[in-house]
Amino acid sequence: MTDSWRPTSARSSGSSPLKPPEQAELVAEPDLEDELESQEYQYDDDRDRDSALGSDIESSANSIASSILEYRIIQGRTYHSDRHNVNYFTPNDEQQVQSIDITHHYLTLLLEDRLFIAPIPNHVQSVLDIGTGSGIWSIDFAEQYPNAQVIGTDLSPMQPMWVPPNVRFELEDCTQPWSWGDDSFDFVHLRYLFGAIPDWNEFIRQAYRVTRPGGWVQSCETEVIIQCDDGSIPPDSALKTFWNKLYDEIGGKIGTSFKPLTHNFQESAFRAAGFRDIEVYDYKLPIGGWPTDHRMSEVGQYVQLTLLNDLEGYTLMPWNTVMGDNAPGYKENLSQMRRELHNRRLHGYMRTRYVYGQKPES
Ligand SMILES: C[S@@+](CC[C@H](N)C(=O)[O-])C[C@H]1O[C@@H](n2cnc3c(N)ncnc32)[C@H](O)[C@@H]1O
Repeated sequence: MTDSWRPTSARSSGSSPLKPPEQAELVAEPDLEDELESQEYQYDDDRDRDSALGSDIESSANSIASSILEYRIIQGRTYHSDRHNVNYFTPNDEQQVQSIDITHHYLTLLLEDRLFIAPIPNHVQSVLDIGTGSGIWSIDFAEQYPNAQVIGTDLSPMQPMWVPPNVRFELEDCTQPWSWGDDSFDFVHLRYLFGAIPDWNEFIRQAYRVTRPGGWVQSCETEVIIQCDDGSIPPDSALKTFWNKLYDEIGGKIGTSFKPLTHNFQESAFRAAGFRDIEVYDYKLPIGGWPTDHRMSEVGQYVQLTLLNDLEGYTLMPWNTVMGDNAPGYKENLSQMRRELHNRRLHGYMRTRYVYGQKPES
């Protein structure tokens, strides 16, 4: 199957021995019955948090969080502590951790079971994963490379306690000067930090500084604005009037961009920092299992699952920021968007970009 894959676009200024997977054009399955849509679909207010286990974990996390870690709480969801002078938009609770883990799964599938595409050497020793979230990438990397030491950082201690011995997690705000010395890491991994970075040039400059000469930095970002190529998403859909509207407008309100691809932040920052052999690969992430291509259909189902698993987590803070705290209509929009996410006749996708580059030897 891999023969039929190619990236939707690629620009390169060097050569790489490890070619990333190619992506087939996304073609929709014809006349598929929308079995989920045809079922009676009732919106359940607590659907995002409806497992008994999930609520136990959440309530115990909430009590620890509020007493010791001083997390911010918005309508029952916990967010990073106020001690960081940033305003990151998703919660740090178990519900969101699940979505981060599902996201990791679809991105790994997209890369045909690879954790990265930069041509790092097998004897990689020291790795830094900025904004590690649940820590799942760091943990998987550490398992694949037991001789490497992996450090994952985040605003929130939302990583598991039981991890491979060669992984450790640290709390650090990546928008502040990084604590590591120059030339410290063989590989710096940056993924899904859209909405978190006020200055991409400064961010990538810090990644360059801590990378040793000859080492690599890889950035993966998704533009969460939902698009389609065949007009299947109507202008009055919640995908457009709710989701896209929130992500169109929130960046201007909180001072970080949610459109890294539109502005080409990654590639231009890599060039400005001085990397060489920069490679850029773009993919489309389908939403739902509508593509005919088997792998892309599977990727799309996990993208859909990530969103459905925590639609509230992705939209609550953006809604309050863009529309005003507790503005009416939120639950109705969530409900409508859930129905649309289940509708296989809507051929939505988001765009994802991988950029990597090498720090020159001298
Ligand atoms: C969407 S998650 C991605 C997690 C992980 N990189 C992955 O791809 O699996 C974004 C993570 O970035 C973290 N984050 C946001 N702003 C940050 C900052 N200023 N410094 C460090 N981490 C940050 C969030 O707490 C969250 O865990």
